Amino acid sequence: MDREALRMVCSPEFWRMGVLWTLSLLYSYLLLFLRGRTDTPRRRRPRPHAGGGRPICVVTGATSGLGKAAAAALAREGYHVVLAGRSTQLLSETAREIRRQQPYACLEEFQIDLSSYKSIKKFETALKQWLWDSDLKPSIQLLINNAGMLAKSQRVTEDGHDETMQTNYIGPFILTNILLPLLKNSPIPSRVVNLTSFTHRCVSEIDVSEEELRGVKFGQCLVRGTYPLASIYEYTKWLLTRVW
Ligand SMILES: NC(=O)c1ccc[n+]([C@@H]2O[C@H](COP(=O)([O-])OP(=O)(O)OC[C@H]3O[C@@H](n4cnc5c(N)ncnc54)[C@H](OP(=O)(O)O)[C@@H]3O)[C@@H](O)[C@H]2O)c1
Ligand SMILES: *[C@@H]1O[C@H](CO)[C@@H](O)[C@H](O)[C@H]1NC(C)=O
Repeated sequence: MDREALRMVCSPEFWRMGVLWTLSLLYSYLLLFLRGRTDTPRRRRPRPHAGGGRPICVVTGATSGLGKAAAAALAREGYHVVLAGRSTQLLSETAREIRRQQPYACLEEFQIDLSSYKSIKKFETALKQWLWDSDLKPSIQLLINNAGMLAKSQRVTEDGHDETMQTNYIGPFILTNILLPLLKNSPIPSRVVNLTSFTHRCVSEIDVSEEELRGVKFGQCLVRGTYPLASIYEYTKWLLTRVW
């Protein structure tokens, strides 16, 4: 085991992830179990074809994991799916993979790096241009803020934020606000889905200062030599559950 790995195993963050995250996962399962016993079955949402053309959805982090699975499922449901991801190569591979299963899937590939203001702005311009060029109604029916990450050591973005904080929260917050006019313009009720995490239950501090939002406060722990990766991740996910 190298020294970095050893330091990681001995850190409070490691134990936080091992113990607290396991407990909060069990608690989340318990809630789901109890809810499952008391809830009446929900009615299926109607198929989203009201108002003519295909509804449009934007999925961030669509090149792997849950994002890729959601994109494929939504294409199957009849959505025009905007695959948003950081790597153009992974975007092409993902589109090819979905089309192998669904030759007539409607997919568009757009590059976005949520840890960069500039990239989000570029995405906005490209998306609006595409809607305009394709004569599509300038509206979106669904935005899935799925992209997320957990940095193992501190990296500061070109915009001066902690990378996890900007990717998981600040970026999606800006994206949601930029897309809000298009979401509001939808002829059918639109939706924003945020991928949070059971780990947000570990956040006990609910006073949000600007310093914390920027990820600056966490820098203090660095002085003691450990990057609080787990706390930052939990915090970004907790912030995503807030309706501002
Ligand atoms: N899997 C779980 O058990 C679990 C549990 C709780 C919550 N979640 C949350 O669910 C979401 C999806 O999880 P997953 O397991 O499917 O993760 P994943 O397989 O690691 O996929 C994350 C996606 O986010 C993208 N991404 C990362 N940084 C980005 C950035 N700066 N800009 C744009 N895209 C970026 C990645 O792109 P690249 O392909 O380019 O890296 C990837 O496509 C995440 O928000 C995660 O925090 C997952
Ligand atoms: C999802 O996140 C966005 C951006 O922070 C926020 O504006 C919105 O209220 C959140 N939605 C839900 C349902 O939590």
